[in-house]
Amino acid sequence: MHIRDLTYAEFGSVITEIDLGNLSLEEWERIYSLWNDRALLIFPKAFLTKDNQDTFAKRFGALEFPRTAISNVGKGGKIHHESGDDVVKVIRGNEGWHHDSTYMPVQAKGAVFTAEIIPAEGGLTGWADMRAAYDALDNDLRDTLSELSAYHSYYYSQGRDGYLPSSQNDDGTYNAYGFHDGEASLRPLVKVHPGTNRPNLLIGRHAHDIIGMEAQESEDFLDELNDFACFESRTYFHDWEEGDAVVWDNRRLMHRVTPYDMTQPRRMWHTRIAGSPDSELADNYR
Ligand code: OGA
Ligand code: MN
Repeated sequence: MHIRDLTYAEFGSVITEIDLGNLSLEEWERIYSLWNDRALLIFPKAFLTKDNQDTFAKRFGALEFPRTAISNVGKGGKIHHESGDDVVKVIRGNEGWHHDSTYMPVQAKGAVFTAEIIPAEGGLTGWADMRAAYDALDNDLRDTLSELSAYHSYYYSQGRDGYLPSSQNDDGTYNAYGFHDGEASLRPLVKVHPGTNRPNLLIGRHAHDIIGMEAQESEDFLDELNDFACFESRTYFHDWEEGDAVVWDNRRLMHRVTPYDMTQPRRMWHTRIAGSPDSELADNYR
């Protein structure tokens, strides 16, 4: 196993000379402790099979959901590209910085993500380090943030960007993952990472309505905080090659996709690792 740390930011390592479908206990322990430290591990050209992807993900914890296509390629090879298409709306929503499943009662722990079909241009995945962002704050702002909590909701993020699905149920829900009928999840803006005990920002496009602020004041405040947090020097964008696999720590990092020509096919596979109720359950679900 060969490890090379990325130098663009304070996170990310590239691992080669490893067979993810056949890890020794020693290799696995090294990978897990490196993941805790570096938050993003990249395995170029790993070409994981469906089963190997989910089996690898399960080493990190129980699954929130097994390997699922994140793709504009639909049934029978149909390419979803029109702006009013519900598949397109989900993908375009992913262009905004976010942590996965902060809108669910339990935030995700991480994801194993692999590339099968890549467009000629764009469609990179970027990550931003919310621990480095927290560390870069001045003391006054840290004190202010330590007292604040916001709601996280997929209705909010998709609604704000004009990406709600075209048909709504009578009870106000939509038939797509994330549009649950429970309360929006209330989460502190500063999360203490359960693996390292280091504080990091917990923000992104799903966060809204900080307790104690007017809606507009909160939106402006969070927009500014997101911009600061995702400043270039705290990001890394991966230009995919077919077969690449990554695993990211969703408690610490945000991520997004860069725009691409949606008349071209892109197919990625996402296995979502469930957070722990001890550390990732929303405050209002305790
Ligand atoms: C996701 C996501 C980004 C991408 O799968 O949760 O945000 O690059 N994907 O497709
Ligand atoms: Mn995502």
